[in-house]
Amino acid sequence: MCGIIGYSGHENAADKLIHALTSLEYRGYDSAGVTLFAENGTVTLKKQGRLKNLQQLLADNPIASVCGIGHTRWATHGKPSDDNAHPHVSGKVSLVHNGIIENYADIRRDLERDGAVFLSDTDTESAVKLLDDAYRQTGEPLSAIRQTCEQLTGSYAFAIVFADINGKVFGVRRGSPLIAAYGQDGNFVASDITAVLWDTRRYISLDENEIAAVTNDGIVVTDFDGKAVAKETKTAEWDSESAEKGGFPHFMLKEIHEEAESVGRTVAAHIKDGLPDFQSCGLSRQFLSKLKSVTIAACGTAMHAGLVGKTVTERLAGIPVRVEVASEFRYGSVFLEEGDLFVAVSQSGETADTLAALDIAKQHGARTLGIVNAAGSALSREADGVFLTMAGPEISVASTKAYGVQLAALYLLAIATAEAKGKLSSEDARLFTQTLLTEIPSKISEVVSRESEIRTLASDFMNAKSVFFIGRGLDCALSYEGSLKLKEISYIHSESYAAGEMKHGTISLIEENTPVVAVATQPELFTKTISNIREVKARGANVLLICPANFPNADIADTVFNIPATSELFTPFTAVTALQLFAYHMAELRGRDIDKPRNLAKSVTVE
Ligand code: AGP
Ligand code: GLU
Repeated sequence: MCGIIGYSGHENAADKLIHALTSLEYRGYDSAGVTLFAENGTVTLKKQGRLKNLQQLLADNPIASVCGIGHTRWATHGKPSDDNAHPHVSGKVSLVHNGIIENYADIRRDLERDGAVFLSDTDTESAVKLLDDAYRQTGEPLSAIRQTCEQLTGSYAFAIVFADINGKVFGVRRGSPLIAAYGQDGNFVASDITAVLWDTRRYISLDENEIAAVTNDGIVVTDFDGKAVAKETKTAEWDSESAEKGGFPHFMLKEIHEEAESVGRTVAAHIKDGLPDFQSCGLSRQFLSKLKSVTIAACGTAMHAGLVGKTVTERLAGIPVRVEVASEFRYGSVFLEEGDLFVAVSQSGETADTLAALDIAKQHGARTLGIVNAAGSALSREADGVFLTMAGPEISVASTKAYGVQLAALYLLAIATAEAKGKLSSEDARLFTQTLLTEIPSKISEVVSRESEIRTLASDFMNAKSVFFIGRGLDCALSYEGSLKLKEISYIHSESYAAGEMKHGTISLIEENTPVVAVATQPELFTKTISNIREVKARGANVLLICPANFPNADIADTVFNIPATSELFTPFTAVTALQLFAYHMAELRGRDIDKPRNLAKSVTVE
C-alpha cells in the first residue's frame, strides 16, 4: 500500500524525498507528505491529492534540509484529506506508516481518556501518540520504538524522526515491507528498492522486529533485544531504466511491450538440459512424480494466472488443481497435508492475503512454492522454494507482463510435473519448453506490433456502459483477466462468464448493442462457443471475437481479431496480450489515469 521513504545525507532532502515518492506513487496516491529537519526542529508539510500538490506546497515553502521522511498514502482508516495524510506528528515524534494498526481504537480510547487530542481519523495517529509518550518516558529512541511496537497489533512499517535527533531516520517493520539502502551521498529507508533505484542498487532487507537507524554515514540495524544485527548487503538486479517510462506515455503500455522479453527471460532462467528445472526451487523430480494434487492461492490477476495453470496442469499431468482466492482461503476447509504442493503466486510478493494463505498452508505441512517477481519480498523469504519470475519492476497498477511470466512459470510447472509422472514424454516436454522459450515470445511480439489495429477496435467500443467477456475452458480463465483489466483502468462495468453459463441468467443483461468480447482459441470448443455467440447476437450484442485464423464462421461476429497461430495449449499468452491492449486503449480513449486508477494501489499489503 503506502509508499515510505526516509533520507539522511548531504544533499537537498526535499528533492530526494520527492524523487523517491515519484517512484513510489504507484503504491498509493491519495495524499502525500514530508517531515524535514529545518533550522529549529522539524517541519511537516502534507497535502491531499497527487504528489504534485505536495510539490507545489514545497515550492511555495522551500526548506533547506538534508534529512527527512516522506509518504504517499492509500487510505485505509479515514478519508483522503490533509489531516489524515502522513506524516503524523505528536510532540517531538513524526512518523509515516504503511499497514494497519488493528488495536488503534482501544489505544485511542485510552489516550483520549487521559486527555490526548487526536487530529486525524487514522489508525496511524494512535501509534505516533504512543511513541511520543514512550519517548518522553525513556528519552531514548530505540527503546521507545520497541516499547511502542510491543503495544501494537496489526501490520506496519514505520519511518520515524525525532525532532531533537537531527540527521537520523529510524525504520521498523512488522508485517509490512521495509528496506534500507546505501545511496551515493546519503542513505535511505524505503518501502521497496524501486523507490531509490535512480540513486542506488545496494540495499538491505529488514526482517520482522528489526530497527534500522539511518544517518548520512551509515545504517545500523538492531533487534528488539537491542543487539546489533549484521545484515547482508544485496544488489538489486533491476536497474533504474526498468523503473522508468522510457518514452512510453504510460508504464502499462511499456510493460505490455516488455511482456515477450520477460516471458523468454523467465523461461530461460528455469531450464536445465532443455527441460523445466524445479530442483533449484526445492522441488525434486521425485517429489513431482508423486504429486497427487496442487493448490494455488493468489489474488486478482495472479489468481487468474492460476486458473490458466489449473487447466494446463490438469490437462498435462492429470492431477486435480484447486485455485483459491487467497483472501478466502482461511474460511474454507483446507485440504492440505504433508507432501501436498501449495503454490502462492504474486508479482509483489507482499500481498497480505496471499501471505496469510501461505502461512495456513505451512501450518498444514504442505510444501510451499512462491512464484514471485520481486526478489527479497516476504513471499520469497517465507515460501519453502522460490520460482523467481523475471519481469523486472512492474510499476503500473494494472498487472500485465507479470501475468505473462506467471503463466510461463505455471506452464513450466505443469510440464515438469507431467514429465516426472510419465504423462508426457521427455521429447514432448522438451518441445513444449522450447515453444515457451522462443515461439511464444515472438508470437506475443507479433500481437504487440498490431497495436494500432486493437486501438481501432477499442474506438468502436469506447462508449460502452458495460462489456461482457465469454469463453470456454482456457478461454474462460482468460476472460476473467480481460474483464478485470478493462474494469480496473477504464471504469467500464464488465463481467466475464463461462460462455455456456450466460444463458443461465446473465444473458438477460444483453440488449441492443451490448458489447461482448468472445474469446475462442480452443478448436475442440469452437462449435459450442459459436452457439453461445449466436445466442448473444440474437439478443442484439455487438460481438468482438478473439480467435485464431482457423476459427470457422468468424463472420458471425461483428469484428474479429485474429491471434497468431500457435499450438492451442499456448494461446493464452497471445490472447491476453490482445485483451491487455484492448483494455489499455479503451482507458486511454476515455482519458483515464491509466497507471494510477482510482481507489487502487499496486501492492496490497493489508488484508
Ligand atoms: C492487477 O491488475 C491488479 N492490480 C491486482 O489484481 C493484482 O494482481 C493483485 O492485487 C495481486 O498482486 P500481487 O501479484 O502483487 O500479489
Ligand atoms: N492505515 C494507514 C492510513 O490509513 C496507512 C494506510 C496504508 O498503509 O495503506 O493512513
